[in-house]
Amino acid sequence: MVGTEQGKATSGKEITAENFAFLQQQIYRDSGIVLEAGKQYLVEARLAPIARQQGLGSVNDLCNLLRAVGNDGLRRKVVEAMTTNETQFFREPAQYEALRTSLLGELLAARRSPRPLACWSAAASTGQEVYSLAMLAAEMGLAPTELQILGTDLAESVLERARAGRYSQLEVNRGLPAAYLVKYFTRQGLEWVLKDEIRRRARFQRHDLRDSARHLGPFDLVFCRNVLIYFDEETKRRVLQRVREAMYAGGYLLLGAVESVLDLDHLFERRKVGQAIVYQAR
Ligand SMILES: C[S@@+](CC[C@H](N)C(=O)[O-])C[C@H]1O[C@@H](n2cnc3c(N)ncnc32)[C@H](O)[C@@H]1O
Repeated sequence: MVGTEQGKATSGKEITAENFAFLQQQIYRDSGIVLEAGKQYLVEARLAPIARQQGLGSVNDLCNLLRAVGNDGLRRKVVEAMTTNETQFFREPAQYEALRTSLLGELLAARRSPRPLACWSAAASTGQEVYSLAMLAAEMGLAPTELQILGTDLAESVLERARAGRYSQLEVNRGLPAAYLVKYFTRQGLEWVLKDEIRRRARFQRHDLRDSARHLGPFDLVFCRNVLIYFDEETKRRVLQRVREAMYAGGYLLLGAVESVLDLDHLFERRKVGQAIVYQAR
């Protein structure tokens, strides 16, 4: 069937303006992610496979099904499909260098009692950020009981992959030093599997960054990188407040490079350590 949308002929399969607006609202409500105007192509690319799995002919049909009452599982699947899970090992190397040369030592020394350093990767995706820190800790001679890492994400599908600790050749080619690949991974078929000595330093659970994280912490070190960019100002402020509430005073927050321009002065003190910008909790 051929329909018209804003005067333009469509095949009947292209997402309608009404359905796009419906998805914008739904995704914002369920994740805080702002789906900008003009991203219809992204919606089609990410949601058409789900529509097919459901035996539906188009994303418009998927929207109709979503409108039906009691479709929480499908709703979650759609939101997960709209998250961007791009990540890599040792992304923004200057931050890992700052951790190695000064921050981890400083945090260990600042503890009032001999407890493990509590670290949180707050938008962990498939786990590369978590395991980069775990490998760094191992290289620094820290025992698993001295530094523990929690990885959280909104999307269960990426957390499952993170827990498995299995990566493709393409994924290990991105950012992982060859010496670490040899030392900390074993090859199984086409995949590289992290050794237990690294995996047991981390655990993963689902968490929405807009919710209180007090029960997860308190943390000495938080990575909240490359996720604020998907939120509007109000959500960014709310998330950073939540993050701060879950941290020890004096702990460190690491943001993605493009996120460092946010006004955080009331919560954190901005510091330059080597080439890295880090935020110390007030
Ligand atoms: C681009 S990845 C960043 C991965 C990693 N931090 C890095 O910098 O390489 C963004 C992640 O944020 C997650 N995300 C999006 N909205 C979220 C929310 N409201 N709460 C928790 N995680 C969220 C997505 O599922 C995705 O895995």
